[in-house]
Amino acid sequence: MSVYDLREHLKKLESIGQLKKLDNVPLEHILGGIIDQNSLRNGPTLLFDNFEGYDPGFRVMAGSMNNTETMAAVLGLKGNFTKLELADTIAEKIGELETSQQNFPMEYVEDGPIFENKFFDDDVDLYKIPVPIFHEEDGGRYIGTGDFQVHMDPDNGWVNCGCYRVMQHDKNRVGNFIAAGHHGAIIRKKYWDKGEPCPVAFVVGAHPLFFLMGSVDVPINVDEYNWCGALTGKRVPVVKLPKTGLPVPAEAEIVLEGFAYPDDTCLEGPFGEFTGYYGGGIRKEYFVKITGMYYRNDPILLASPPGPLPNDMSFLFSVMRAANVKAALIRAGVPGVKAVWSPECSDGRAMLITSIKQQFAGHASMVAHIAGQCPQGGLINKFSIVVDDDIDPSNLEEVIWALSTRVEPTTDIDITKESWSSPLEPMIPTEAKAAGRTCAGKAVIRATIPYYRLPEGKDTRNIFPKVVKGSKELVAKVMEKYGDIWKK
Ligand SMILES: Cc1cc2nc3c(=O)[nH]c(=O)nc-3n(C[C@H](O)[C@H](O)[C@H](O)COP(=O)(O)O)c2cc1C
Repeated sequence: MSVYDLREHLKKLESIGQLKKLDNVPLEHILGGIIDQNSLRNGPTLLFDNFEGYDPGFRVMAGSMNNTETMAAVLGLKGNFTKLELADTIAEKIGELETSQQNFPMEYVEDGPIFENKFFDDDVDLYKIPVPIFHEEDGGRYIGTGDFQVHMDPDNGWVNCGCYRVMQHDKNRVGNFIAAGHHGAIIRKKYWDKGEPCPVAFVVGAHPLFFLMGSVDVPINVDEYNWCGALTGKRVPVVKLPKTGLPVPAEAEIVLEGFAYPDDTCLEGPFGEFTGYYGGGIRKEYFVKITGMYYRNDPILLASPPGPLPNDMSFLFSVMRAANVKAALIRAGVPGVKAVWSPECSDGRAMLITSIKQQFAGHASMVAHIAGQCPQGGLINKFSIVVDDDIDPSNLEEVIWALSTRVEPTTDIDITKESWSSPLEPMIPTEAKAAGRTCAGKAVIRATIPYYRLPEGKDTRNIFPKVVKGSKELVAKVMEKYGDIWKK
């Protein structure tokens, strides 16, 4: 039994009541509609089987990390967690992974289940795989949503795994979208600058841990396979693909490989995106001609379509952004950080909320600016809010109360311009995007009691009013005696 085998993971999900199997669901829109409704309810993992017109055995999985139970299972964590506890546990692990990852390099093996079925060149036929059209306005079938792509740096052999969406164009061509600044685009350009095609492997079905690691910000020159190894304590067994030589997990479910050329372009999109809009529209991207296709017997495509929020990827984004930013703030030496959260309805990126125990004048600004601009928190972040430690950043009612009562709008909001964003940001006009202008502004909001008005501050005449809140003891007494009033 391997920790990287998706089928073992499915058994685990079944044992904790977090797997729902569905049969004969239409691939066009209906399957996507079910995924949307499941995500809205932070539902279980879904396994779709038996698609009309496709060979039996081909399956599609979704909802891999929609709630704390399924996400903890993917990460191999035991116990029950709240959202913040899960993010905190991961933040601690991230701190350790920075050093331990070096001890877990991927392990090349000769063979693996992924090679149970192999097709090359003209025999490649992507139409064998049931690929959904997720949303009604999508421009086509998206084979890569819960995927990751493998690129190897031609200069130093560094292997990067990144989750970038992949649209199926025909029998053996796909088009993908890699945002500028993402590692896949940086490596691809290096090949093209040398006048060479860029080799790429698409892992479109595998244990969701790989998708998770490919979709979150891991520092440049750190190999995601090492991260998975350090996290599970087991090196990742990989096989070398015949055409590109790229390493992919030996127990992956479905893998495609091929080459991207700078002059072979396609139209990509529209696609229902993580912002909840078709923001990217139709853009010129690059074809990848698939020359090798591999899958296990009865393979599973891993889907994680974005779309209306909360969507199939927003919970994992919220948890991972919170964990990454918390770990980054601690690594940067920022004191007093209690918790970080990025609400799902902000696509787990656009809004960051950090709670702190204020320790000095200016502390709140320091935290909010670093959180909103650091590599782990900057991308697509628009609002970095800092709150006091009596506020739970994952509780929007409490956050809005802090915004309503601890912010003086004329002084507590800082605006920074020309910051890291994305061509998928709906507020950036289409012409600006076409001209490569993909930066956007950010607001830092100090929703904290001004430091000088805290008891430990200097202005004793202007101490901030006391909060009206029943003591823990009072609340416990009331609930014990009268809790039945609110029982459903
Ligand atoms: C479901 C899903 C789809 C994504 N699609 C894309 C995409 O199409 N293009 C892209 O550049 N980033 C996409 N991302 C975000 C990247 O995977 C993420 O920023 C990752 O950290 C990039 O890896 P890299 O820094 O190694 O390039 C997606 C993430 C998820 C979870």
